[in-house]
Amino acid sequence: MTPFIERRRKLLQQIGNDGIAILFAAPEQRRSNDTTFPFRQDSYFHYLTGFPETESVLVLDGAAQTATLYCRDKDPLRETWDGFRYGPEAAHEAFGLDAAYSISRWHEDLEKLLLNKSRLYALWGVYPEQDRLLMQAWSKVRQYAGQRIQLNTYAPDSLGDVSEILDAMRLVKDGHELALLEEAGEISAKAHIRAMQKTRPGVSELQIEAELLHEFMRHGARFPAYNSIVASGKNACCLHYVENKDVLNDGDLLLIDAGAEYQGYAGDISRTFPVNGKFNPAQKDLYEVVLAANEAAIAAVKPGADWRDLHQMTLRILVQGMVDFKLLQGTVDGNIESLAYQRYYMHGLGHWVGLDVHDVGGRWQNGEPILLQPGMCTTIEPGIYVNAADDIPEAFHNIGIRIEDNVYVTETGGKVYTASVPKSVAGIEEIMRG
Ligand code: GLY
Ligand code: MN
Ligand code: MN
Repeated sequence: MTPFIERRRKLLQQIGNDGIAILFAAPEQRRSNDTTFPFRQDSYFHYLTGFPETESVLVLDGAAQTATLYCRDKDPLRETWDGFRYGPEAAHEAFGLDAAYSISRWHEDLEKLLLNKSRLYALWGVYPEQDRLLMQAWSKVRQYAGQRIQLNTYAPDSLGDVSEILDAMRLVKDGHELALLEEAGEISAKAHIRAMQKTRPGVSELQIEAELLHEFMRHGARFPAYNSIVASGKNACCLHYVENKDVLNDGDLLLIDAGAEYQGYAGDISRTFPVNGKFNPAQKDLYEVVLAANEAAIAAVKPGADWRDLHQMTLRILVQGMVDFKLLQGTVDGNIESLAYQRYYMHGLGHWVGLDVHDVGGRWQNGEPILLQPGMCTTIEPGIYVNAADDIPEAFHNIGIRIEDNVYVTETGGKVYTASVPKSVAGIEEIMRG
């Protein structure tokens, strides 16, 4: 539990000795009648506790510098139906907490917890029910604190967004997180290799999705980090195509964007390869452009690098390719200036990746761009997407290509930890030959 205890300590330090932070576990999500979606813990709650259950609350008390968990009681009958629950006593011990109590006393304790704190931190706007509960308690405490028999008490006079502190912490991964991210990347890479090996004309996108899931689960990753995109032919021109319902056609490319979630951490890999195992000349031409952009961006990852520079640099490579292959007329600069390239490339170069596949942290802090620093973890995912149209050479119709890797920043550069799935034309064709 050391990394979790350390994160709580860091947060406690930052909320100060008269602040209090309250975080909630994710609620269960109903799927139909009396069935639920598989439970997925709230990323912030997981980051601070590792505690895997719903109906739980974490209280970080700045005055006492303590971490207290409220969670469900043991309940033999419910556990017979729905599975194991820690209960406060075991949770206290197992998760390195200062105290743990039954969730049944949470409402009653809340007002007492707010007394004599000057600032209440929470993740506002995420769980509306919980917002309302906190607001009600806050409002009540403000009515009676400092009055009559409560003369020597005060209520919080300001609210803080705990995500401001936590996002900055989550942006720079600790060693425990980097190890899990590498594992998520490695499992995702294995799944992509399996998908390449199973791909051939006549197989369906859905069957390939099944192969991905098979490999994720086989390696201990029960769920994908996001809905898998298995997009052949023109489907690849829809960035988040997840219907996965078509049959793979000889002569088409297949774009797979899929990643495993391993112990809460996301892998996020895209590979694009020919259904029949061999790139045709037009596919290869565009593929090499996207690959050059992917490799140039990865080579530029290092401490101090400005993400906007990486994006611009790779944009030039992509637009040069679009001009060379007559997808665009005019100059590279002209097409960048006019945004004409957005017809074929309409997303950014990548995003932070961590507990959330599109991880928190943002690109700006106090009006300044966030520069790369060791421990930050990003995707690099340039692409080119060409729908069929009369003004485009036919050989390029219905080609969507994205090549996506995951990289974390080291002291001297970047470590690509999704590299075991091939991305060179030769490497892909070799794997597909079996
Ligand atoms: N899988 C979504 C993305 O690559 O951002
Ligand atoms: Mn992706
Ligand atoms: Mn991505």
